[in-house]
Amino acid sequence: MNFDVNPEWWKELFDEVYLITDARSVCDDDVTRREIDLIQALIPIAPEQEILDLCGGHGRHSMELHNRGFKKCTVLDYSQFLIDRGRKDAGRLGMEIEFLQGDARKTGLPSEKFDHVLILGNSLGYIPSPDGDRDILSEALCLLKRGGRLLIDIVNGATLRNRFNPVAWHEIGGDIVVCRNRSLDGDVVRAREMVMSKKGGLIRDNFYSLRLYEPDSIQSLLSEVGFSGINVIGEFSPFNKKGDYGFMNFRMIVTARKS
Ligand SMILES: C[S@@+](CC[C@H](N)C(=O)[O-])C[C@H]1O[C@@H](n2cnc3c(N)ncnc32)[C@H](O)[C@@H]1O
Repeated sequence: MNFDVNPEWWKELFDEVYLITDARSVCDDDVTRREIDLIQALIPIAPEQEILDLCGGHGRHSMELHNRGFKKCTVLDYSQFLIDRGRKDAGRLGMEIEFLQGDARKTGLPSEKFDHVLILGNSLGYIPSPDGDRDILSEALCLLKRGGRLLIDIVNGATLRNRFNPVAWHEIGGDIVVCRNRSLDGDVVRAREMVMSKKGGLIRDNFYSLRLYEPDSIQSLLSEVGFSGINVIGEFSPFNKKGDYGFMNFRMIVTARKS
């Protein structure tokens, strides 16, 4: 299959259809709670501290943190749709969370503002040039206070490669079917995702790509960017049921510090 991927696919894909196709991962409160449980066990977050949920989508992690008493959360994401959705949901629940649309490579936020920067739910590897993630991580370093922590939750490329699944599909409710076809080329996975309604026909036919990191390569990148105290937990899954959750399946958690 020819995977003809628009290099800027990530600027368009994260909309209302994504919240349906990835609902098992990003719209399940139990999954989000288990992710935040782990984050709290790994980094010391205090209620008065400033937290940046970078590439934070519709803000599910910030909302869970807010529920737990961490009231100084900022969500930044490129998707205007997700930012609007998160702001609306948080407002309805009376949560004061700042939602900002922007590019994680150059956020425009003040340097040294945050105690913690979180990059969760597999949000790196989208920009085809290796400079893309380098720029996001350099920006994270700049935004952190001295002694501040970065925590990344991304797919573990080594595990994904070993258990590579080229074809997967799942049903959502009685109507929606999501079919995924994937190819592995070095450290890049390319995928085609077709979303269909049994009643209404084809909803989406998307192509996207992801740069994979293994524990060693993410460690090297973070250290080149200037982080220290880098630690990788190689295997993490917040799911109770078996299944193909796409790039959310085999995750690693990486923590690092700005010295
Ligand atoms: C798989 S979603 C995860 C969202 C959220 N972290 C979560 O776990 O629910 C990846 C998100 O990264 C965002 N993203 C990717 N590259 C970005 C960039 N350069 N700047 C800002 N947001 C970006 C996308 O818009 C998308 O919302």
